Amino acid sequence: MAEQESLEFGKADFVLMDTVSMPEFMANLKLRFEKGRIYTFIGEVVVSVNPYKSMNIYGRDTIEQYKGRELYERPPHLFAIADAAYKAMKRRSKDTCIVISGESGAGKTEASKYIMQYIAAITNPSQRAEVERVKNMLLKSNCVLEAFGNAKTNRNDNSSRFGKYMDINFDFKGDPIGGHINNYLLEKSRVIVQQPGERSFHSFYQLLQGGSEQILRSLHLQKSLSSYNYIHVGAQLKSSINDAAEFKVVADAMKVIGFKPEEIQTVYKILAAILHLGNLKFVVDGDTPLIENGKVVSVVAELLSTKTDMVEKALLYRTVATGRDVIDKQHTEQEASYGRDAFAKAIYERLFCWIVTRINDVIEVKNYDTTIHGKNTVIGVLDIYGFEIFDNNSFEQFCINYCNEKLQQLFIQLVLKQEQEEYQREGIPWKHIDYFNNQIIVDLVEQQHKGIIAILDDACMNVGRVTDEMFLEALNSKLCKHGHFSSRKLCASDKILEFDRDFRIRHYAGDVVYSVIGFIDKNKDTLFQDFKRLMYNSSNPVLKNMWPEGKLSITEVTKRPLTAATLFKNSMIALVDNLASKEPYYVRCIKPNDKKSPQLFDDERCRHQVEYLGLLENVRVRRAGFAYRQTYEKFLHRYKMISEFTWPNHELRSDKEAVKKLIEHCEFQDDVAYGKTKIFVRTPRTLFTLEELRAQMLIRIVLFLQKVWRGTLARMRYKRTKAALAIIRYYRRYKVKAYIHEVARRFHGVKSMRDYGRHVKWPAPPKVLRRFEEALQAIFNRWRASQLIKSIPATDLPQVRAKVAAMEMLKGQRADLGLQRAWEGNYLASKPDTPQTSGTFVPVANELKRKDKYMNVLFSCHVRKVNRFSKVEDRAIFVTDRHLYKMNPTKQYKVMKTIPLYNLTGLSVSNGKDQLAVFHTKDNKDLIVCLFSKQPTHESRIGELVGVLVNHFKRRYRRSYLGPHIWKAGIQPLELNLLPILLFFFSYTYKFLNVTLKKYKVPMYPLPPLTPLLPHQQPLSSSWDINCIW
Ligand SMILES: Nc1ncnc2c1ncn2[C@@H]1O[C@H](COP(=O)(O)OP(=O)(O)OP(=O)(O)O)[C@@H](O)[C@H]1O
Ligand SMILES: [Mg+2]
Repeated sequence: MAEQESLEFGKADFVLMDTVSMPEFMANLKLRFEKGRIYTFIGEVVVSVNPYKSMNIYGRDTIEQYKGRELYERPPHLFAIADAAYKAMKRRSKDTCIVISGESGAGKTEASKYIMQYIAAITNPSQRAEVERVKNMLLKSNCVLEAFGNAKTNRNDNSSRFGKYMDINFDFKGDPIGGHINNYLLEKSRVIVQQPGERSFHSFYQLLQGGSEQILRSLHLQKSLSSYNYIHVGAQLKSSINDAAEFKVVADAMKVIGFKPEEIQTVYKILAAILHLGNLKFVVDGDTPLIENGKVVSVVAELLSTKTDMVEKALLYRTVATGRDVIDKQHTEQEASYGRDAFAKAIYERLFCWIVTRINDVIEVKNYDTTIHGKNTVIGVLDIYGFEIFDNNSFEQFCINYCNEKLQQLFIQLVLKQEQEEYQREGIPWKHIDYFNNQIIVDLVEQQHKGIIAILDDACMNVGRVTDEMFLEALNSKLCKHGHFSSRKLCASDKILEFDRDFRIRHYAGDVVYSVIGFIDKNKDTLFQDFKRLMYNSSNPVLKNMWPEGKLSITEVTKRPLTAATLFKNSMIALVDNLASKEPYYVRCIKPNDKKSPQLFDDERCRHQVEYLGLLENVRVRRAGFAYRQTYEKFLHRYKMISEFTWPNHELRSDKEAVKKLIEHCEFQDDVAYGKTKIFVRTPRTLFTLEELRAQMLIRIVLFLQKVWRGTLARMRYKRTKAALAIIRYYRRYKVKAYIHEVARRFHGVKSMRDYGRHVKWPAPPKVLRRFEEALQAIFNRWRASQLIKSIPATDLPQVRAKVAAMEMLKGQRADLGLQRAWEGNYLASKPDTPQTSGTFVPVANELKRKDKYMNVLFSCHVRKVNRFSKVEDRAIFVTDRHLYKMNPTKQYKVMKTIPLYNLTGLSVSNGKDQLAVFHTKDNKDLIVCLFSKQPTHESRIGELVGVLVNHFKRRYRRSYLGPHIWKAGIQPLELNLLPILLFFFSYTYKFLNVTLKKYKVPMYPLPPLTPLLPHQQPLSSSWDINCIW
C-alpha cells in the first residue's frame, strides 16, 4: 500500500469502524469533515461531504497520484473511484457507471465534473487530435447545459433543474471517442414562476446581464431584470454566479461545440421571446379577451420569425375540429394566460432538448466499426436531481423524489439485496442484515393501475372537467390502506395536511407533503396545437426544426400523447435498466448544512441523510460481506499465471480445485470463501495483491510471448527466404539452360554456314552469364577465325599474320599499306626486285645464316638514306628473326651495321605516302631509311615492314607468354632464358605503343608532303612520325 492518511483524520473507510453504529459513523464523518477530509470510503462507495469551499485537491499533481492506482492505495477521493471505473472498463471491457446521488446542493454536479475532468486528464496520452476534440466537447457541454438547465434555488445557487446521464464512449485503447447525454424532466414550470428566494434558469439572467447593448437592442430587451414578469421575483437576488461573465463563457462554449452563429442567435431570440411573452397582458372587453400591449406581440412575432396576427390568433383563439368542420374558439382570459404560459414553458423545454440534441450530434461516436476498433466501452455518469422537500411540493418534486426512490432501489438491488442473495445462493455462511427496502414506495408510485401515476393518468383521461381535488379523491379511495400514503381525509388529526389539497408520501428519505394543485395540468402538459403550428410555420429553420409535430393538420386524428408522469416513469425505468446492466460505482453526497457554510456540520441534517441513504447498512453488508467475487473459471482466467499449478493450464479435477490451489499457493486461504460457482474475496487488499502479482507475471508472459513470436517470425522469415532462394536458384538455372538452348539452337549447323555464323545474333544472356557470354563469343570468334584460316594455305599464313599486324597497327593512320599485293618479304633475294644484285645477296644471306643462326628472314629491301653530309646513299636492310642488318648493295651487300633485334625499341613511320622508316634502338642510334623498290617502282612497303616486325615481336611475346606449349614447338633454351625479360619488356612497350600512337594521332596530319630520296630534303623531325615502339 502506498501513502495512506493517518488516523488523526479519522478512518478513511467506514468499514474499519470498531463498531458499526450511527454515533460512531457520524463522529467519523464529522471529524473528517472538520479536518478537511471530505471523502470517505465504504468499500467501493465514496461518501462525499460538500465542503462549501474551494479545495486544492483536484489539481494535476493529485490526478497523477491516483492515475492507474488501485482503489485502496490512496486516500479516499472521487479520482479513486473514477480510476476504478476506468480500470474496470479498460481491463475487463466492462461497461461501468458512476451513480452520484444526494440531495439538492450536496455536490453531485460538482462531483460529476471532477470525475469527467479526471477521465479527460488520464486519457489520450498520444494527444490524438480527434480524442482531444471529443474531450473538449464533453467538458464544454457542461457549462452550456448548466446555463440552460440550472437555476438558483433556496438550497443551491447552481441547482440542476434536470436530470443528466452522460455516457462516455471509449475505444479499445481506453481513449474517449464520443459520448451521449440523456436529459430527464426539466423543471420547466420555473420558466414562468419561482418560489420566493429562487430564480429562473441562469440563461435569462446571463443574456440580460452579459449580452451587449447591440444584442439586447436587436432582441428589444433592456438590462433591467425586474422589467420582466417571468423573472422579476428573483431579480434582486444575489447569486454566487457572475451572470455577465458566464454569458461570454457559454457563448464561447457553444461556438466551440459547433453551434452555428444563426443557431446561437436563435437561442437568444427564444429567450427574449419568452421574456416578452411573460409581459403580455390580457384584458377583457365584455366577454372577449384582448391583448393589452399589442406591441409585445409584434416583438414576439419578430423574434420567432412569424407573423404578428398569427401570434395574436394563437394566443387568443384555439382551433377546434368538430367532425370535418374547423372552428376558432375564443379563449377566456384565464385560458389565454394559461396558453401563454404553457407556450413559454414549452418553447423553453424544446430549446433545452434541442441544445442537448445538438451537443449529442457533435459528441456522438462516429464511424466506429467494432470489427476494426474493438469493443466500444462506456462509462456512464449519472447526476440527477437529489431528493427534495420544499415548503410547497408539487408535481416536479413528486417526480424528482420518485426518481430518487428508483435509484435507491437500484442501490439496494445491487449493493444490499443482490449481494446477500448471492451469498445464500452460493452457500456462503451468512447472517442476514436488515435494511429498509423501498420497493414498496416505488410500487406506490409506479405500479400499474394502482400506483399514483396510474391514478393520475386515469384522472387526466376522464372526459369533462377534471380537477386536482378529484385526483386527490381518487388517491384517497385507492390508496387508503397503503402504509406510505396519507392525506387529511385519511388522517383527520394530521393538521399539517390541508383538506382537498395535500397528500403525504412516506419516502425512504423522509415524509414529503405534496400539494395536488397543478398535478392534472402538469401531467396533461397541454399545449394548444395552434402554438405548435405557429412554430412549425416559423421562417426560422432552427425554430421550425424544433417543432416537427406542428406539421400535422388540425383535422388529423392523433394518438393521445403520453402524460408527463408516464413519460418520466418510462424514462426512469429505462435509466435504471441501463444502469443495472453496467458495473456500478457510487458517490453518495451529503450536504453538511443548509447555510452553505464550510464550517458548519449540522449533525441532525447529516444523520438524516446518512440514514436515508442507507449508508450504515451499506457498511454492515460490506463488513460482513466480501469485496470481490468471481466465477472460478473467470478468476482462473485472470490469475492463473500466478501459480505454477495453474499456469498455463491446471490438471486438477475442477476449476474450483485449481482456484483453491492457487489461493493456498499465495497463502490467502483465510481471506476467501468458496461458493458453489464463485470465489469470494473478503478484503480488497487481497485482490490488490493478486492484481500486483498478476501484473508482475504479465511482464514475464509478455516477454515470453514476444520471444516465441519473434522466434516464429524469424522462422517464418527464414523459410520464406529459403523458399525464395530455391525459386531463384531454379529460375536462374532455368534461365541459364534456356540461354544455352537458345545459343545452341541459333548456332545449330554453324559450320555449314557460309559465314560460319557471323550473321547469327547472340541472344541476350542472363546477367549471371554476361562474362560467360564474352568468353563464349571469344571462343566462337577464335573458332570462326580458325575456320577461316584453315582455308588459307600454310605458306600464306605468315604473310596474313603480318598483314593483320600491320592493319592493327596502322589502320586508319596510313592510306596505303600495300595489303592488296603479295608480301614477298625478302625483296633482296627476289629476282624481279633486284634482278642484277640478288645473286650477290643470297650468298651473303646464307653466310649470315650460318654465322648468326637466324631461322627466318623477315624482311629485306633496298633503301636510301641521307648521310650526315646530306648525301643520298643506296643501302639495303636485311631483317632476320635475330638481327637487323644495314648493307651496302654497291659492295656485294657488305654488312655495314648489325643491330640485334632485341636492341630495337621501336619503329617510326609517317602517315604520308613516303617510305620513310626510323628504327629506334636502345642506344639511341636510330637508323633512318627510306624504303626503295625497284620493281615495281614506288611500291609501298612500309605496311609490310611494320606488319612483319610487329607480327614477329607479337608472336615471340605470345610464345613466351604461352610458355610450356612453345617448348614443344622447339624454342631454344637460350631464348627461353630471355623470356621473362621479354615478357616484361613487351608488356611495357606494348602499352607504350598504344599510348604513343594515341599521342600522335592528332598532330600527325599536317605533314609536309615528302618526296623521298631527294638529297636536298631536310632531316626529318620525329614529331610527325607514327611510332611503333615495342
Ligand atoms: N467538491 C466541492 N468543492 C467545493 N465546493 C463544492 C464541492 N461540491 C459542491 N460544492 C459547492 O456546493 C454547491 C452545490 O453543489 P452542486 O451544484 O454540485 O449540488 P447538486 O448536488 O448538484 O445539487 P442539485 O441537486 O441542486 O443540482 C456548488 O455550487 C459548490 O459551491
Ligand atoms: Mg446539480
